Amino acid sequence: MNILITGGAGFIGSHVIRRFVNKYPHYQIVNFDKLTYAGNLSNLKDIDEKANYTFVKGDICSIEDVSNAFKEHQITHVIHLAAESHVDRSIENPLEFAMTNVIGTLNLLSVAKSFWKDGKDHVFHHVSTDEVYGSLNETDLFKETTAYDPRSPYSASKASSDHFVKAFFHTYDFPIKMSNCSNNYGSHHFPEKLIPLMINNILNMQALPIYGKGENIRDWLWVEDHASAIDAIFHNGTLGETYNVGGLNEWTNIDLVNFLCRLMDEKLNREPGTSASLITYIKDRAGHDMRYAIDATKLETELGWKPSIQFEEGLSKTVDWYLENQNWVKDITSGSYQEYYKKMYS
Ligand code: NAD
Ligand code: TYD
Repeated sequence: MNILITGGAGFIGSHVIRRFVNKYPHYQIVNFDKLTYAGNLSNLKDIDEKANYTFVKGDICSIEDVSNAFKEHQITHVIHLAAESHVDRSIENPLEFAMTNVIGTLNLLSVAKSFWKDGKDHVFHHVSTDEVYGSLNETDLFKETTAYDPRSPYSASKASSDHFVKAFFHTYDFPIKMSNCSNNYGSHHFPEKLIPLMINNILNMQALPIYGKGENIRDWLWVEDHASAIDAIFHNGTLGETYNVGGLNEWTNIDLVNFLCRLMDEKLNREPGTSASLITYIKDRAGHDMRYAIDATKLETELGWKPSIQFEEGLSKTVDWYLENQNWVKDITSGSYQEYYKKMYS
């Protein structure tokens, strides 16, 4: 297999690349990434010398960039993660999300379709989010059959890309698989997202900005468990099918941040309550979805997938990684992020 993994320099993509490069030395892995503010090749410095890994800088929206990569590397499979991924940014700039997430995905599908006419086995695995299903009441769970109801520009763009992926399967018999995952956490997570932002601010004794009342619920999954789910679906999932990925791990934002504060007080030898005193309630996010929660029964029963780690342990490991990798945080936040942070939070 010659696998094009798009968005491999980002958070989840770098974990997927690391897993595939190490576990499947006989596959050629091509990391195709535009290196936006969210992409960082240092995420992969532990594997970038490996013989089965290549990096290609390119834009999924460019027919030329994608075609050249397909031609040069004889691409037989795709795992597509490249996207604009932050809800708050999508509220500011929805067009950019439509360009990358919708047009970029459609371009990738079209180029792959034009190259894959040899009758051989191919797979296009599209990585999506549970946010396409909208916002839940207190008790339901998102199933693969839940109707799409995206409510942010980010989720609308991901939903649209999902529809194109399914349309290619139905219209052209194009070999797709799809996964819709809940919120991920772990190392190499860009500090604009809730967990790494809070870790960073706790460490630096800065305000911890909670949107609204902090009662919104997210279902958190260890990023390496998402990578193992993608591995299982990519290899053993049925063509044309969608698999939901999640670990039944719901937290209100405020409970999660309080838990993180206690954990970091301990790790940093601070008086109990020091970090929590930084919590600051700020204006709610526009259209803020109340609750996400995934039912991953299909993935568990059909493909035998299970999450490997409890949240408390995963969060503790994540905090340790950030404490040990402050240079990574400094580098990735040194550019345009400063301006973004000021605009969002001051
Ligand atoms: P991320 O923002 O950390 O990384 C995105 C990567 O895509 C970056 O390396 C960036 O440079 C690259 N990229 C962006 N535009 C590109 C373009 N036009 N051409 C080529 N590369 C481009 O995102 P992430 O959190 O790792 O998410 C990866 C995928 O997983 C996304 O499709 C996202 O919708 C999905 N997802 C994320 C989560 C989550 O909790 N983060 C949950 C479920 C699904
Ligand atoms: P986020 O990490 O942006 O993921 P998503 O919106 O895609 O689920 O946010 C997770 C939750 O945390 C969400 O309910 C919004 C909230 N949040 C805050 O309260 N403060 C913050 O500074 C951020 C970034 C998020």
